[in-house]
Amino acid sequence: SFSISSVFDFSSNLFPLSSSTGNGYAPIGAPISSTNTQTTIGGASLEKNKTLTYLNGLSLIVGLIIGSGIFSSPSQVNSNAGSPGASLIVWGIAGILAWTGAASYAELGGAIPLNGGAQVYLAKIFGEIWGFLFTWCAVVVLKPGSAAIIAIIMGEYLVRAAIGAEAENVSVWINKGVALIGLILVTALNCTSTRLGTKMGDMFMFLKFVALLGVTVTGIVVAVTGFSTTGEANQDWKDKGWFDGTSTSASAWAVALYAGLWAFDGWDNTNYVLGEFRNPTRDLPRVIHTAMPLVILSYILANVAYFFVLPLDVISDSDTVAVMFGNKVFGPVGSLILALIVSASCFGALNATTFTSGRLVYVAGKEGYLPKIFGRIGVSNDQVASTRLRTRSWVSKRLAKMFGDEETGLFYTPIWAMVLNASLTTLYILVGEFGTLVTFYGVAGYTFYFMTVLGLIVLRVREPNLERPYRTWITTPIIFCCVNLFLLSRAVLAEPIKTLIVVTFIVAGVPVYYLRLRGRDQGGRKKEGTGEMSGDGRAGRGWMFWKRD
Ligand code: ARG
Repeated sequence: SFSISSVFDFSSNLFPLSSSTGNGYAPIGAPISSTNTQTTIGGASLEKNKTLTYLNGLSLIVGLIIGSGIFSSPSQVNSNAGSPGASLIVWGIAGILAWTGAASYAELGGAIPLNGGAQVYLAKIFGEIWGFLFTWCAVVVLKPGSAAIIAIIMGEYLVRAAIGAEAENVSVWINKGVALIGLILVTALNCTSTRLGTKMGDMFMFLKFVALLGVTVTGIVVAVTGFSTTGEANQDWKDKGWFDGTSTSASAWAVALYAGLWAFDGWDNTNYVLGEFRNPTRDLPRVIHTAMPLVILSYILANVAYFFVLPLDVISDSDTVAVMFGNKVFGPVGSLILALIVSASCFGALNATTFTSGRLVYVAGKEGYLPKIFGRIGVSNDQVASTRLRTRSWVSKRLAKMFGDEETGLFYTPIWAMVLNASLTTLYILVGEFGTLVTFYGVAGYTFYFMTVLGLIVLRVREPNLERPYRTWITTPIIFCCVNLFLLSRAVLAEPIKTLIVVTFIVAGVPVYYLRLRGRDQGGRKKEGTGEMSGDGRAGRGWMFWKRD
């Protein structure tokens, strides 16, 4: 009943666009086109498997956004913003910024409903090399780097839950070991079954909201009754004003904002898997406009609760705000519960980020940016060729049934992509230096967010008639770009050397691009431009993989 191709005819819109960018190569869709021809004769392709629903999208994005940040970033936000009131404002700004970004991505995703996110948008709008550079950074550093951060935080909290305050004296290698086990577990789950990954996501979303609600209610009860099992009730919020000590330095605000943004980060992740949605153009905006306000609200409430319970200097000094919170109210049992909640929350985020990274790497493999193997799914083409994949053994049949994968069978997932992602994440867990990872993440990540949202504005001007099932107000991308520019300029001023390293790394992608591209073209990809492809009047259908014969 749902036929996207009748609603959107990209052929007339987007192809002039890519030829006007004039990089001389076929548009980014082309390689998918060639793989897609195979799809129709029985190849295995993820996009055949359109299983994701609104609820899956919601739990994916909420599950990824609510991870480590809300439980550990408050200290950085607070110590830089200077006062509780200012902190809350920072949380609000960070949330709205994330929301404007996500709304902009929703428009792009509606116009270009493919797996891959920014990679596809940048390539369509600014030329393929931009899509490549994004992918290069995302695959090599951003995705595995952020997964490593989340995994390490998970490890720390789990160890803390296991052995209590002793954890501070434990070797980092124990934390890292636990982080690795978690990583291997989520990777294995996500390699086995798409449904299993998404089902876990649904469960974790629920848990996280319950946890944040619990924190909020506890905070309010404490504020009203003054209840606390350890020591005096906190009076700071009564005695000191909410804006007492607010920082006046723009740099300090920028640092606070970056810390808040980490907690909201991940809002672009539904876009990576859009091609697997049953109804992407309808559901993406819905997902965004439910997820973002919910997350913003629950973060602000949780922070208010922290302020009700903990003295300001405790919040500013500790990386484990949530555990302090639990301890203050309920003693050791409280810190145990909170430590468990935080590690579960990180585990859920790790699960969600593994799911989407797999798809990003997979698209990169299909595009020829990475060796072909990464664009393959776990079962071979031959297996799928026989009308539908049949799982062979009794055990795998049962399992597939249990997880809800009887349609495709188990391992209908981008296994090699996830293996690559897990290997890089492992590397960062082992050798990664925290501060560097976080700076890199902020600067490189926000450069590409900026470019992509700027692309939305460019696209509005250049292709006014392009079908946009969802249109955001034009102020949305403009606000996002302006605040983003402020952040980036601050980063450049504050950390010139580190910024230079990031820029160098991005630029290093350029030769890699030309090398990969040469290999790809020699590998038989048509180098001819767009004219050819549109010859049969089915232009661009190639990259519209939902159109199957
Ligand atoms: N917001 C998440 C957290 O608080 C971090 C998300 C990292 N980004 C990502 N794409 N994995 O832990």
